[in-house]
Amino acid sequence: MYPTEQAEIETALLAPSTLLVDRLTSEQQWPRPVDQLPVFLRNIEETLNKRRSTESMYTILKNFRLSNNAVDFCSGDILSLNASGALRTRFLAELAKNPGFTPGSGGVRLMDGNYPYLEQAERDIAAFHGAEDCLIVSSAYEANVAIWSALPRPGDVLVYDTLVHASTHEGMKRSYKTSKVMFQHNNVQSFRSTLSKVFKEHLLVREGKRSVLVAVESIYSMDGDVCPLKELISVAKEFSRDKGNVQFVVDEAHSIGVIGPKGSGLVCQLGVQKDVAIVVHSYGKAMGATGATVLCSPIVRTALVNFGKSIIYTTSPSLPFVATINSGYALLQTQQLRNAQERIQNHARTFFETLTSHPLWPRVKETGLFRVPLAQGWRDRPFLTHIATVIPHEKHQYWLYVHLIAASFSVFSIPYPVVPLGQGRIRIIFHANDTEDQIMGLVNAVFTWAAEIFSMNDTGMEETETRVARKVNEWKQREQIRARL
Ligand SMILES: Cc1ncc(COP(=O)(O)O)c(C=O)c1O
Repeated sequence: MYPTEQAEIETALLAPSTLLVDRLTSEQQWPRPVDQLPVFLRNIEETLNKRRSTESMYTILKNFRLSNNAVDFCSGDILSLNASGALRTRFLAELAKNPGFTPGSGGVRLMDGNYPYLEQAERDIAAFHGAEDCLIVSSAYEANVAIWSALPRPGDVLVYDTLVHASTHEGMKRSYKTSKVMFQHNNVQSFRSTLSKVFKEHLLVREGKRSVLVAVESIYSMDGDVCPLKELISVAKEFSRDKGNVQFVVDEAHSIGVIGPKGSGLVCQLGVQKDVAIVVHSYGKAMGATGATVLCSPIVRTALVNFGKSIIYTTSPSLPFVATINSGYALLQTQQLRNAQERIQNHARTFFETLTSHPLWPRVKETGLFRVPLAQGWRDRPFLTHIATVIPHEKHQYWLYVHLIAASFSVFSIPYPVVPLGQGRIRIIFHANDTEDQIMGLVNAVFTWAAEIFSMNDTGMEETETRVARKVNEWKQREQIRARL
């Protein structure tokens, strides 16, 4: 059982959990001395000190997920393929089927790095998703950079949802002589007016001589909402008519394995494979592996291996790397995986049900103490996603996070600039191996915190320091830990 009541959490803090200690001690935020450093390092450390002074230092955390018994509400192992050992078992069997394999790939894909197992995997993956062709690459980051830097032709217009991933931005930045225009997140009307403007302002696009490439994601990583892809496609068709010069690139990093027939993703779920030029799947999340594929036409695939520098100049994926991906696909065919997907749906339902039926929920909504955007209309959605966000009032973000960590719920606090200013949030990811009790425990822990804030407000206190916050601060002082998280 996990502490969710105030007194239980306070008692747990008498011996702070590994999770809390690891998070608090992983990075010391205060500036470090630079005087004794050689110039090269001094200049870098000075820049890092600027970041430390804003308390936004990134850090590589100790692996609390595997090293203690915190409840995992943050890792990418959504289907629990790693936690359950299922992927390891399949992977070892897959290796055993290929006893003569070499651990390395032998080179870049265009020289010595190609081999039959990799080519067969690509054919199988294309067939699984109903795609024409497929290219396996090292990561979705690399895929997006290659797609967006290499494919647009001069004069093309890149239209993107405001919340697309950093890798898409990086690729677009490197594209040559293109215009970039964003539309409001998941807003079909905004997409329509953006396209209308683009067609008005770009003669060659209007004449059907240049293209509009649209960047969207199936499930948005920091919001957990789903792209209205079908509606966007139908708007695009109104503009391109039969010229085919408005095309979509759909990043399915957060949907592969989780939604669609056998976890094949949103594009397959909606049956719009023919209306989407390129789909990117990352295997680093629900599929429990690493790497990515680009699903596309043979022409696009050829262009990527000719112009996509991040694909051309890198060692090709090795057989063990591809075997892990194949093992994930093999598991997607099993009942075990369908059960895992169903469990995630149940977890999301439990989360929203517990949240919206809590006696304090109306007051939380009324006061704006925290928002849960996806709680609105959750019952009407055809399927729920594994990502939910709690967006507290800005001044509370840090301490709500600490409160949940103190209760051994491993979540992440996502600050600006990862999300827009003023929308810092606690991101919660449901996993197949989480239990219903843990989901309810998490929601109750949030309300335990809210109840204390309300009670402080009711007695006229302006404070944000809850009893848990005080205990954590005392402990930090005792241990001389000066860092925030
Ligand atoms: C939407 C999106 N696209 C791409 C990536 C990059 O994926 P990969 O880890 O395969 O590079 C991520 C990773 O977080 C992501 O969220």
